Amino acid sequence: MYTVIILLIFSYLFGSISFSLIISKLFYNLDLREHGSGNVGTTNTFRILGKKAGIIVLIIDLLKGAIPVWVAMLVDGTGHFPVIIFGVVAALGHVYSIFLKFKGGKAVATGGGAIFAANPLLFLVLIITFLLTLKLSKYVSLSSVFAAIVLIIGVCFTGDWFMFIFGIVLGLVVIIKHIPNMKRIKDGSEPKITFM
Ligand code: G3P
Repeated sequence: MYTVIILLIFSYLFGSISFSLIISKLFYNLDLREHGSGNVGTTNTFRILGKKAGIIVLIIDLLKGAIPVWVAMLVDGTGHFPVIIFGVVAALGHVYSIFLKFKGGKAVATGGGAIFAANPLLFLVLIITFLLTLKLSKYVSLSSVFAAIVLIIGVCFTGDWFMFIFGIVLGLVVIIKHIPNMKRIKDGSEPKITFM
Protein backbone atom coordinates (compact mmCIF):
# COMPACT_ATOMS: atom_id res chain seq x y z
CA MET A 1 0.00 0.00 0.00
CA TYR A 2 2.83 2.41 0.93
CA THR A 3 4.47 1.61 -2.40
CA VAL A 4 1.29 2.58 -4.26
CA ILE A 5 1.01 5.89 -2.35
CA ILE A 6 4.68 6.72 -2.96
CA LEU A 7 4.28 5.86 -6.66
CA LEU A 8 1.17 8.05 -6.91
CA ILE A 9 2.97 11.01 -5.30
CA PHE A 10 6.01 10.48 -7.55
CA SER A 11 3.78 10.30 -10.67
CA TYR A 12 1.91 13.49 -9.80
CA LEU A 13 5.04 15.48 -8.90
CA PHE A 14 6.94 14.21 -11.96
CA GLY A 15 4.00 15.11 -14.22
CA SER A 16 3.77 18.52 -12.55
CA ILE A 17 7.23 19.55 -13.74
CA SER A 18 6.73 21.74 -16.79
CA PHE A 19 9.87 21.13 -18.85
CA SER A 20 8.59 23.35 -21.67
CA LEU A 21 8.40 26.26 -19.23
CA ILE A 22 11.84 25.48 -17.78
CA ILE A 23 13.36 25.29 -21.29
CA SER A 24 11.61 28.49 -22.42
CA LYS A 25 12.83 30.41 -19.39
CA LEU A 26 16.35 28.94 -19.22
CA PHE A 27 17.33 28.90 -22.88
CA TYR A 28 15.01 31.42 -24.58
CA ASN A 29 14.54 33.92 -21.77
CA LEU A 30 10.77 33.98 -22.19
CA ASP A 31 7.70 32.66 -20.43
CA LEU A 32 5.80 30.29 -22.73
CA ARG A 33 2.58 31.18 -20.90
CA GLU A 34 2.78 34.72 -22.27
CA HIS A 35 3.11 33.70 -25.92
CA GLY A 36 1.01 31.97 -28.59
CA SER A 37 -1.84 29.99 -27.07
CA GLY A 38 -0.28 30.44 -23.62
CA ASN A 39 -0.22 26.66 -23.23
CA VAL A 40 2.83 24.97 -21.70
CA GLY A 41 2.59 22.05 -24.13
CA THR A 42 4.39 20.62 -27.13
CA THR A 43 2.34 22.49 -29.75
CA ASN A 44 2.96 25.91 -28.25
CA THR A 45 6.64 25.05 -27.80
CA PHE A 46 6.91 24.25 -31.53
CA ARG A 47 4.96 27.42 -32.31
CA ILE A 48 7.01 29.80 -30.15
CA LEU A 49 10.45 28.18 -29.67
CA GLY A 50 10.77 26.24 -32.93
CA LYS A 51 11.40 22.69 -34.11
CA LYS A 52 14.40 21.80 -31.92
CA ALA A 53 12.78 22.80 -28.62
CA GLY A 54 9.44 21.34 -29.81
CA ILE A 55 10.93 17.90 -30.47
CA ILE A 56 12.77 17.91 -27.12
CA VAL A 57 9.60 18.88 -25.22
CA LEU A 58 7.54 16.29 -27.15
CA ILE A 59 9.96 13.52 -26.12
CA ILE A 60 10.17 14.72 -22.50
CA ASP A 61 6.38 15.08 -22.18
CA LEU A 62 5.82 11.60 -23.67
CA LEU A 63 8.35 10.24 -21.16
CA LYS A 64 6.62 12.10 -18.31
CA GLY A 65 3.58 9.88 -18.93
CA ALA A 66 5.48 6.70 -19.79
CA ILE A 67 8.10 6.62 -17.00
CA PRO A 68 5.60 6.36 -14.08
CA VAL A 69 3.94 3.42 -15.90
CA TRP A 70 7.29 1.70 -16.51
CA VAL A 71 8.39 2.30 -12.90
CA ALA A 72 5.11 0.80 -11.65
CA MET A 73 5.63 -2.22 -13.94
CA LEU A 74 9.14 -2.72 -12.53
CA VAL A 75 8.03 -2.32 -8.91
CA ASP A 76 5.09 -4.72 -9.40
CA GLY A 77 6.66 -7.54 -11.37
CA THR A 78 3.43 -9.62 -11.48
CA GLY A 79 2.05 -7.99 -14.63
CA HIS A 80 -1.37 -7.52 -12.96
CA PHE A 81 -0.82 -4.09 -11.46
CA PRO A 82 -3.15 -1.37 -12.89
CA VAL A 83 -0.15 0.64 -14.12
CA ILE A 84 -2.23 3.01 -16.26
CA ILE A 85 -3.26 4.83 -13.05
CA PHE A 86 0.26 6.21 -12.59
CA GLY A 87 0.51 7.48 -16.17
CA VAL A 88 -2.86 9.20 -15.93
CA VAL A 89 -1.89 10.72 -12.56
CA ALA A 90 1.28 12.08 -14.24
CA ALA A 91 -0.91 13.53 -17.03
CA LEU A 92 -3.14 15.13 -14.37
CA GLY A 93 0.02 16.57 -12.78
CA HIS A 94 0.90 18.05 -16.17
CA VAL A 95 -2.56 19.66 -16.44
CA TYR A 96 -3.03 20.67 -12.79
CA SER A 97 0.58 21.28 -11.77
CA ILE A 98 1.34 21.92 -8.12
CA PHE A 99 4.25 24.10 -9.30
CA LEU A 100 2.02 26.26 -11.54
CA LYS A 101 -0.84 27.00 -9.13
CA PHE A 102 -2.76 23.98 -10.47
CA LYS A 103 -2.60 25.19 -14.06
CA GLY A 104 -0.65 23.53 -16.89
CA GLY A 105 -0.91 21.83 -20.26
CA LYS A 106 -3.62 19.82 -22.02
CA ALA A 107 -2.42 16.24 -21.35
CA VAL A 108 -1.94 15.22 -24.99
CA ALA A 109 1.75 14.23 -25.06
CA THR A 110 1.92 13.17 -21.40
CA GLY A 111 -1.33 11.19 -21.70
CA GLY A 112 -0.06 9.72 -24.98
CA GLY A 113 3.11 8.57 -23.22
CA ALA A 114 1.03 6.89 -20.51
CA ILE A 115 -1.04 5.01 -23.10
CA PHE A 116 2.11 4.09 -25.07
CA ALA A 117 3.65 2.45 -22.00
CA ALA A 118 0.47 0.74 -20.80
CA ASN A 119 -1.07 -0.35 -24.12
CA PRO A 120 1.15 0.19 -27.21
CA LEU A 121 -1.51 -1.15 -29.61
CA LEU A 122 -4.08 1.38 -28.42
CA PHE A 123 -1.38 4.08 -28.70
CA LEU A 124 -0.86 3.07 -32.34
CA VAL A 125 -4.57 3.50 -33.05
CA LEU A 126 -4.51 6.92 -31.35
CA ILE A 127 -1.43 8.12 -33.22
CA ILE A 128 -2.97 7.05 -36.55
CA THR A 129 -6.19 8.92 -35.64
CA PHE A 130 -4.15 11.98 -34.64
CA LEU A 131 -2.00 12.03 -37.78
CA LEU A 132 -4.92 11.37 -40.16
CA THR A 133 -6.95 14.19 -38.59
CA LEU A 134 -3.91 16.48 -38.69
CA LYS A 135 -3.30 15.69 -42.36
CA LEU A 136 -6.92 16.48 -43.24
CA SER A 137 -7.66 19.42 -40.92
CA LYS A 138 -4.23 20.93 -40.14
CA TYR A 139 -5.46 21.57 -36.58
CA VAL A 140 -3.36 19.97 -33.78
CA SER A 141 -6.12 20.68 -31.27
CA LEU A 142 -8.84 18.97 -33.34
CA SER A 143 -6.51 15.99 -33.88
CA SER A 144 -5.98 15.80 -30.10
CA VAL A 145 -9.75 15.86 -29.49
CA PHE A 146 -10.37 13.14 -32.11
CA ALA A 147 -7.63 10.99 -30.55
CA ALA A 148 -9.25 11.55 -27.12
CA ILE A 149 -12.64 10.43 -28.49
CA VAL A 150 -11.04 7.32 -30.01
CA LEU A 151 -9.31 6.70 -26.65
CA ILE A 152 -12.68 6.80 -24.85
CA ILE A 153 -14.14 4.37 -27.39
CA GLY A 154 -10.99 2.20 -27.45
CA VAL A 155 -10.79 1.63 -23.68
CA CYS A 156 -14.28 0.11 -23.79
CA PHE A 157 -12.77 -2.81 -25.72
CA THR A 158 -9.64 -3.45 -23.63
CA GLY A 159 -11.44 -5.67 -21.09
CA ASP A 160 -9.53 -3.90 -18.34
CA TRP A 161 -11.55 -1.95 -15.75
CA PHE A 162 -8.66 0.32 -14.74
CA MET A 163 -7.85 1.10 -18.36
CA PHE A 164 -11.56 1.78 -18.94
CA ILE A 165 -11.95 4.21 -16.01
CA PHE A 166 -8.61 6.00 -16.30
CA GLY A 167 -8.75 6.09 -20.09
CA ILE A 168 -12.12 7.82 -19.92
CA VAL A 169 -10.81 10.27 -17.28
CA LEU A 170 -7.82 11.08 -19.51
CA GLY A 171 -9.97 11.41 -22.64
CA LEU A 172 -12.43 13.74 -20.91
CA VAL A 173 -9.64 15.93 -19.46
CA VAL A 174 -8.10 16.29 -22.94
CA ILE A 175 -11.49 17.21 -24.45
CA ILE A 176 -12.37 19.69 -21.68
CA LYS A 177 -8.94 21.38 -21.92
CA HIS A 178 -9.49 21.86 -25.66
CA ILE A 179 -12.84 23.70 -25.38
CA PRO A 180 -11.13 27.11 -25.98
CA ASN A 181 -9.42 25.64 -29.08
CA MET A 182 -12.78 24.36 -30.40
CA LYS A 183 -14.26 27.85 -29.92
CA ARG A 184 -11.31 29.31 -31.83
CA ILE A 185 -11.81 26.80 -34.68
CA LYS A 186 -15.47 27.91 -34.85
CA ASP A 187 -14.61 31.60 -35.06
CA GLY A 188 -11.69 30.96 -37.43
CA SER A 189 -8.86 32.14 -35.14
CA GLU A 190 -7.28 28.76 -34.33
CA PRO A 191 -3.87 28.53 -36.11
CA LYS A 192 -3.31 25.69 -38.55
CA ILE A 193 0.00 23.89 -39.01
CA THR A 194 1.81 24.65 -42.22
CA PHE A 195 4.15 21.69 -42.67
CA MET A 196 1.82 18.76 -43.46
O1 G3P B 1 -1.19 19.60 -27.25
C1 G3P B 1 -2.13 20.61 -27.15
C2 G3P B 1 -2.67 20.91 -28.53
O2 G3P B 1 -3.67 19.99 -28.86
C3 G3P B 1 -3.20 22.30 -28.63
O3 G3P B 1 -2.23 23.21 -28.15
O4 G3P B 1 -1.15 25.38 -27.86
O5 G3P B 1 -2.72 25.04 -29.77
O6 G3P B 1 -3.61 25.16 -27.44
P1 G3P B 1 -2.43 24.77 -28.31
